[in-house]
Amino acid sequence: MALRLAVASAAASIFGSSAAAQASGKRIVRLSKVKVGASHKFQLANGASALLFRTKAGVFAYQTICTHRGGEVEYFAASKLMVCPVHNASFDPLASGKVVKGPDGSAAATIRSLPSVKVKVSGAWIVLS
Ligand code: FES
Repeated sequence: MALRLAVASAAASIFGSSAAAQASGKRIVRLSKVKVGASHKFQLANGASALLFRTKAGVFAYQTICTHRGGEVEYFAASKLMVCPVHNASFDPLASGKVVKGPDGSAAATIRSLPSVKVKVSGAWIVLS
C-alpha cells in the first residue's frame, strides 16, 4: 500500500507539474552539440528524464516517462518512434508525442500522448522556455 502511494505520488508530481518543475531559461545543452536530426537526453529539475530533438524545423522535447505505467521510453532512430519496453506502447516524437500504438497492442486512445517539454534556442544554447 505504501509503495503504491509513493508511486502514485511520484507519477503525479512528474505528470502533473512538468511546467512548474522547469526553470525557464535553464541551459540544457550547447546547440552545437546536437546536430540536425539528432537527439539529446537530459533531466528536468523534478528528476524526470526527457529527450530533446533537433530537426530542420527547430527543437522540441518530451518527458520519457510512459503515460501508461511509467516505463522509461526510448527513441529508436530507425523507426523514428519512442517505445516503452514495458508493454511496447509507441509514441511519435515528430507528431507531438502522439500515441501510435497502445500498451500490449491495445488502441492508441487508451493512453495519453507523451508530455512535451518546452524548449527553445537561445544564442548558442538550447534552453527550457
Ligand atoms: S508502462 Fe509503458 S506501455 Fe506500459
